Amino acid sequence: MGNERVYNFSAGPSMLPLEVLERAGAEITNYQGSGMSVMEMSHRSKVFVKIFEDTKAKLRRLMNVPEEYEILFLQGGASTQFSMAPLNLIGKTGKADYAVTGNFSNIAYKEAQKYGQINLAASSADRNHTYIPQQDQLKLDPEASYFYYCANNTIYGTEWPYVPETNGVPIVCDMSSDILSRPVDVSKYGIIFAGAQKNMAPAGLTVVIIRKELAGHELPYTPLMMNYKTMIDKDSMYNTPPCWCIYMLGLVLDWLESKGGIPGMEAIKHAKAQMLYDVIDSSRLFTCAVEPGSRSDMNVVFRTGNDELDAKFVKESVEAGFTNLKGHRSVGGMRASIYNAMPTEGVEKLCDFIKAFDKNN
Ligand SMILES: Cc1ncc(COP(=O)(O)O)c(C=O)c1O
Repeated sequence: MGNERVYNFSAGPSMLPLEVLERAGAEITNYQGSGMSVMEMSHRSKVFVKIFEDTKAKLRRLMNVPEEYEILFLQGGASTQFSMAPLNLIGKTGKADYAVTGNFSNIAYKEAQKYGQINLAASSADRNHTYIPQQDQLKLDPEASYFYYCANNTIYGTEWPYVPETNGVPIVCDMSSDILSRPVDVSKYGIIFAGAQKNMAPAGLTVVIIRKELAGHELPYTPLMMNYKTMIDKDSMYNTPPCWCIYMLGLVLDWLESKGGIPGMEAIKHAKAQMLYDVIDSSRLFTCAVEPGSRSDMNVVFRTGNDELDAKFVKESVEAGFTNLKGHRSVGGMRASIYNAMPTEGVEKLCDFIKAFDKNN
């Protein structure tokens, strides 16, 4: 391996900002005079509790999380939330609404069926998940305990351009792949959750933002560790939290703040995505199947329509210093994941590469 860092378009775990990695590296053996690494500290120590509290406060500030909401730092990945949300919320009426717009919402939809009566409020499967259903296409049940959707579909490259109106039914949203990339009105949600490994921190941390009044109504057989109330009451420290990842999230949030916070990031990420879509749309070879208006700013999917040519593109992209541009195994083609930490320069270089490939093939 060479010494150069590559432009890494991985869908997750993904690039972290270089400044963050350098700071973590500088602090790795002796964190601020403590004589030890953050990885080696008791989660109950004064030094770590400060890291924990500061990180939580920074996230609350950056996302404008209202007081009635708790921020939890959990483990188990976003996938654990597919079970945890129904276990804790469905008891209210025994019913819930799900919008299925891709792979992960489909897994969540199937998982929830173990715990109650699940209504398919909308599905984009009819057009291979290339669009996001509109508000008037949602078949909402006013008696649902909650409405569930996935804000950004990492595999299919679609992103909800609006927050669904549910007339008081709490919204549970998987924001794993677009959290911190655009402003979110947290007060419109019951629960927001995200696996950290795309826009926040290394894998191992799951962030949950929950309106506190929703906790405490879990099904009787809910495992202790999957009860939001357990974690709210113990401030995410019922057991050992993912300490290192929480520390890394704090560094990422400092970096985000230095870039103008979430509004600053929104402008940058939208410009990056637009640049890529423009190049794809104006090329001869490449197409993006996702309908305009539903396209993700985080995961840009494209293909030539010829598997051999796609494979050639991926192979040559590696030789040119890019990695992980191969599309998800379930859909093929290419995918460029351009989360917050991907520098604009990386996207510019990818655009040049796409243009050159388009000309030469
Ligand atoms: C939108 C979305 N939800 C859920 C998951 C699953 O996350 P985890 O691996 O943290 O369980 C992913 C993983 O890529 C994802 O992209």
